[in-house]
Amino acid sequence: MVDFITGPLFVVSLVIFVVGMLARVFWYVNGLDWRLERVAYRYHANRSIAGIFASIFKWLIPGGTDGWRTQPVAAVLFFLLHFGAVLVPLFLLGHTVLLERYVGITLPSLPGTLADIFSVMSIVAIVLLAVRRMISPALRQLNSGGDWLVLLLTFLPFATGLMARLDMSAYQSWMLAHVLSGELFLILAPFTKLSHIVLFFMSRAQLGMDFAIKRGGATRGGAFPW
Ligand code: HEM
Ligand code: HEM
Repeated sequence: MVDFITGPLFVVSLVIFVVGMLARVFWYVNGLDWRLERVAYRYHANRSIAGIFASIFKWLIPGGTDGWRTQPVAAVLFFLLHFGAVLVPLFLLGHTVLLERYVGITLPSLPGTLADIFSVMSIVAIVLLAVRRMISPALRQLNSGGDWLVLLLTFLPFATGLMARLDMSAYQSWMLAHVLSGELFLILAPFTKLSHIVLFFMSRAQLGMDFAIKRGGATRGGAFPW
C-alpha cells in the first residue's frame, strides 16, 4: 500500500494538480473580454508590463499595499502561513527526492531545522486565521464551506508532516496520513480556492494592467499603490 500511494497515486495527484492549474490559467485568459481587456493590454504593452510587475511585487511584500497596511494582523498571519506554504512543499528534502525521482527536476533543499520552523509557523498561522474567521463579524458573513475546506486541506499535510518528524515511534502511520493528505491537497487544489496558487498571479497581473493603462496608475510609478 505504501508503494502504491508513494508511487502511482503520487504521480496521478501531481498530474491532476499541474493539468488542473494550467486549465485554470487557460480559462482565466480565455474569459477576458477581447474588446475591454485584450486589445488595451496588447496595445499599451509598455504600460501593462510595468503594471503587472508593480501589482504582483507590491502584494508579495508585507505592507506593500494599502490592502496589507489596513489589516496588519491579518497580513502578519498570511505571511507567517505562506513562508512555509510556498517553501516547504517545494524545497523540503523529503519532497525534492520525490520530485527528482518522478519528475526529473532537482531543486535545492531546505535545512531540516529551518523546514521544521517554517512548518510550525504555518500551523500557528492556520489556527489563528481560523480563529479570525470565527470572530471577525465581516468574515462571519462571508465564510463559506469552501473557505474552511481550504484551511483544512492546508492544515492536514502540515500537521501530519510535522508529527512524522517529531513522533518517531509512530513514523509509519504519520507518513501514511501525510502522503494521503498531501495527495488530497494536490487533487483538490485546482477545484478550490487553493487555485489562488496560480490565479493570484493572473488577477494581480490583470488589475496591474488595468490600473496602469485605464486609471492613470502609470503616472504613479507603474500602478496605483492600492
Ligand atoms: C506563490 C504562491 C501564493 C501566493 C502569491 C498566495 C497568496 C495568498 C493571498 C494574497 C491570500 C489572501 C487572500 C485574502 O485576501 O483573503 C492567500 C490566502 C491563503 N493561502 Fe495562499 N498564496 C500562495 C500559495 C499558497 C499555498 C502553496 C498554500 C497552501 C499550501 C496557500 C494557502 C493559503 C490559505 C489556506 C489561505 C487562506 C487563509 C484564510 O482562510 O484566511 N497559499 N494566499
Ligand atoms: C503528495 C505527496 C507528498 C509526499 C509523498 C510527501 C512526503 C513527505 C516526506 C517523505 C516528508 C519527510 C518526513 C521526514 O523528514 O521523515 C514530508 C514532510 C513534510 N511535508 Fe510532505 N509530502 C507530500 C505532500 C505535502 C504537501 C502537499 C504539503 C504541504 C502543503 C507537505 C508538507 C510537509 C511538511 C510540513 C512536512 C514536515 C516538514 C518538517 O517539519 O521538517 N507535504 N513529506
